[in-house]
Amino acid sequence: MKIILLYGGQSAEHDVSILSAFSVLSAVYYNYYQVQLVYITKDGQWVKGPLLNEKPASEEVLHLHWGSAGDTDKLIQPCQIKEEDAIVLPILHGPNGEDGTIQGFLETIDMPYIGAGVMTSAGCMDKIMTKYILYAVDIPQVPYVPVLKSQWKENPKKIFEQCEGTLLYPMFVKPANMGSSVGITKAHDREELQQALVEAYRYDSRVVIEQSIEAREIEVAILGNEDVRTTLPGEIVKDVAFYDYNSKYIDNNIKMQIPAQIPEEAQAKAREYAKIAYTTLGGSGLARCDFFLTNKNELFLNEVNTMPGFTQFSMYPSLWEKTGLPYGDLIEELIQLGLN
Ligand code: DAL
Ligand code: MG
Repeated sequence: MKIILLYGGQSAEHDVSILSAFSVLSAVYYNYYQVQLVYITKDGQWVKGPLLNEKPASEEVLHLHWGSAGDTDKLIQPCQIKEEDAIVLPILHGPNGEDGTIQGFLETIDMPYIGAGVMTSAGCMDKIMTKYILYAVDIPQVPYVPVLKSQWKENPKKIFEQCEGTLLYPMFVKPANMGSSVGITKAHDREELQQALVEAYRYDSRVVIEQSIEAREIEVAILGNEDVRTTLPGEIVKDVAFYDYNSKYIDNNIKMQIPAQIPEEAQAKAREYAKIAYTTLGGSGLARCDFFLTNKNELFLNEVNTMPGFTQFSMYPSLWEKTGLPYGDLIEELIQLGLN
């Protein structure tokens, strides 16, 4: 059987996707699978790479380009990935990959794929939509104010008043549809709030402003379709004030504590909320559910990631590894879940 590995993609998390893809390539059981590489460039071109029968010697194999001499023949139409006895692994993060667009395309050409379907992907990518859905099932979330670009343009003063009437500084300003902290700013006063909104609107016309709270970051990994399994929570131990894109992927100055050293009651609650959120949002395959835990042991659900970072150092596979499911077995389970 073939795994068609879709990676790269048009989002700001393009490079994270390449790192995730390399880890998958290193761990696939090549006795059972071949891996067909399909790279999506930053401007949305699809490039057919080699078919791998064994673990590649280096990450180089993933650096596909087109347009340079002799390379344009590798360019394909997306529907050309269709073939029998194959499953697609869209290891794509962020918009145009994790948001239901690719999933919708794969449904259209009738190709099986790993991970969340259209509705779940779209609902989890949009932070405002996620909040509305989780509110309906009483999952605790931090106070927030959603602000559309049109509302902000029409009456910025009203938006400031609404935010300041509902939330306290500092506030986090987030584009609704992004990942890996891209476009997110912490605002300590009105002037910073204004700058943060301008920055966030570069990425999305839907923005959410959230109350910043002093809290630990706790994450739970989820696996399954109807039968949903969760891991013990892990903690992102930060030595930076805000765990942004640079600290996540460039400076590498984050550590994970697995399992998180938190009270048993908080562990159980996090797992319970993760399962309810996943089920309510219609999850399939996998997701990572991120929480805030305050020093009073209040737990708030922050977000659900349907294609979490998947490098061998990432939280999602590490949580499963510590639960007794090594990376290669995890891919195998995800394939079986995708074929069901
Ligand atoms: N969006 C990144 C990849 C994550 O949530 O891990
Ligand atoms: Mg996150």
